[in-house]
Amino acid sequence: MSNLGKFITLEGVDGAGKTTHIEFIKNYLSDLNINYVMTREPGGTALGEKLRDILLHDEMNPQTETMLMFAARNEHIDKIIRPNLIKGAVVISDRFTDATYAYQAGGKGVKDEKIDILKKWVQEDLRPDLTFLFDLPVEVSIERLNQTRKLDKFEREDKSFHKKIREKYLTLVEASPERFCVLNSEASIEKIQNQIKLKLDEVIE
Ligand code: TMP
Repeated sequence: MSNLGKFITLEGVDGAGKTTHIEFIKNYLSDLNINYVMTREPGGTALGEKLRDILLHDEMNPQTETMLMFAARNEHIDKIIRPNLIKGAVVISDRFTDATYAYQAGGKGVKDEKIDILKKWVQEDLRPDLTFLFDLPVEVSIERLNQTRKLDKFEREDKSFHKKIREKYLTLVEASPERFCVLNSEASIEKIQNQIKLKLDEVIE
């Protein structure tokens, strides 16, 4: 497949402030008159959103969880991501496959090799052009989560789980430094948004 558009993903531990920055990215791209689609995982399609509801609230075997994440992802790629990339749009997904490595492998012990197989099957040649990682020490992310009223199943996990997620994300950055832009979520909103702007300008041209 030859992509005309750009595929950008957003990742990070729970509580790292992605939501605030998503609004900023949307406004920035709109101001530049760039055709973009903001979407999310798990979710992004009608079926994917039903799977999201199950994934975020029902307890299940970690391998089952991994396969359902990829089932939702397959639908997402087929219905939203590829068609929009082919049209030349910038597609921004709030989480993608890095989250499966971080949460299901890093957090829950599913083997990387099993995720590699599903990734190859479902994504084929599709890869993000850029991934923003919102990074935050676990103590701070937990403190922020404690101020949130309704936590989902992943957010309710303990400190050691969140620590493993962060560590796994940082390992992914080490393996593909050219794809990641790591943002320190403890920095001021203004500083983070300046970094986002610079990187978006570079990737979108
Ligand atoms: P979010 O919309 O707050 O980011 O919530 C999605 C949750 O789902 C988050 O806790 C991370 C988790 N998740 C996984 O565990 N694996 C995945 O592959 C994806 C996409 C998300």
